Amino acid sequence: MPAFVVQTPVRRYIAKVERGILGRVPYYLPDTAGKVFVVTTEDVWKAHGRIFSRGMAGREHAVLFHPGGEERKRLSTVEDLAVQMVEGGADRTALVVGFGGGIVNDVSGFLASIFMRGVGVVQVPTTLLAQVDAAVGGKTGVNLTSGKNLIGTFHQPLTVLIDPEVLSTLPEREYRAGLYEVIKCGVIRSEKLFRLMATRVAAVLARRADVVDEMIAESVRIKAEVVSSDEKESDLRRILNFGHTVGHALEAETAYSRFLHGEAVAIGMKAAVHLALLMEHLSADHAMEIMQAIDAYGPVPPTTGIAPEALMGRLASDKKTMHGQVHFVLPRKVGAVRVVTGIDQDLIYSAIKSALR
Ligand code: GLY
Repeated sequence: MPAFVVQTPVRRYIAKVERGILGRVPYYLPDTAGKVFVVTTEDVWKAHGRIFSRGMAGREHAVLFHPGGEERKRLSTVEDLAVQMVEGGADRTALVVGFGGGIVNDVSGFLASIFMRGVGVVQVPTTLLAQVDAAVGGKTGVNLTSGKNLIGTFHQPLTVLIDPEVLSTLPEREYRAGLYEVIKCGVIRSEKLFRLMATRVAAVLARRADVVDEMIAESVRIKAEVVSSDEKESDLRRILNFGHTVGHALEAETAYSRFLHGEAVAIGMKAAVHLALLMEHLSADHAMEIMQAIDAYGPVPPTTGIAPEALMGRLASDKKTMHGQVHFVLPRKVGAVRVVTGIDQDLIYSAIKSALR
């Protein structure tokens, strides 16, 4: 099964997609590393801890638990984990393994980046969303009440080990939330991946192994390619934010408690499609295709009670906003997008209003 190279100025590493790799983690940990600290959640450990531990036999490790949930993706939980590492005997050779979904990957990457000014991290993502997006690319961070991921670092992992087998026990809602990030990858850079998502809905939802493996591999290929060309999001990497401008505003506005990240991105992608239509960047046919693909994996929780004005206010504190200018990633067609700034506020308002219906 495939392995993809991520090549950044600071590090070259492999993101490996392989069924069963969860039981072979130690083979991919550096021999030079000291004590291993596995950061996970109770749920993930209950579902996959036995296979993971059996595989780790002979390699000393401590297991630390994060409470999970976007609302607990906070600086305070990182401090708790750091204290546990010190109490567990960590020194500068310690290695963190992020074993869980996107929240665990973001938190463990952040922890590793600041612990004793930086130790290594290996990511072992266990949700679809983390496998196709969060675990690859070195973005780490925690939320503030005022905005998503407003505290964070770039800290590339030593390797990313992706086992599609773990998805068989992923709750349906979490699986669907990850599918929206796969659609995102298709819209921004791969018509082939988009067509897979648009035409093989039943097989995707049934988690057919061949289809799941293909969508993960193609998404990781795209992510590796984009990050390798622009690690710090000064240019191309911004396309990965398709759907995230409004998505992050929705998450913050609902105190990270109503939507899973992927669900907020789904609504955000709809807002971006409406905006692209209003600005005549996108044909009605392509807009319809994208909307239909998003709806095929729904529904997402209702947006009742969320005012477009409130989201407009949130956009200003998003970290994608620079010099007061909000940037939007707008599709030009299926498989190609452009980053646009300086958009008329009335158009943004109308697009958000349409997406909230
Ligand atoms: N999730 C967007 C990025 O990694 O850049």
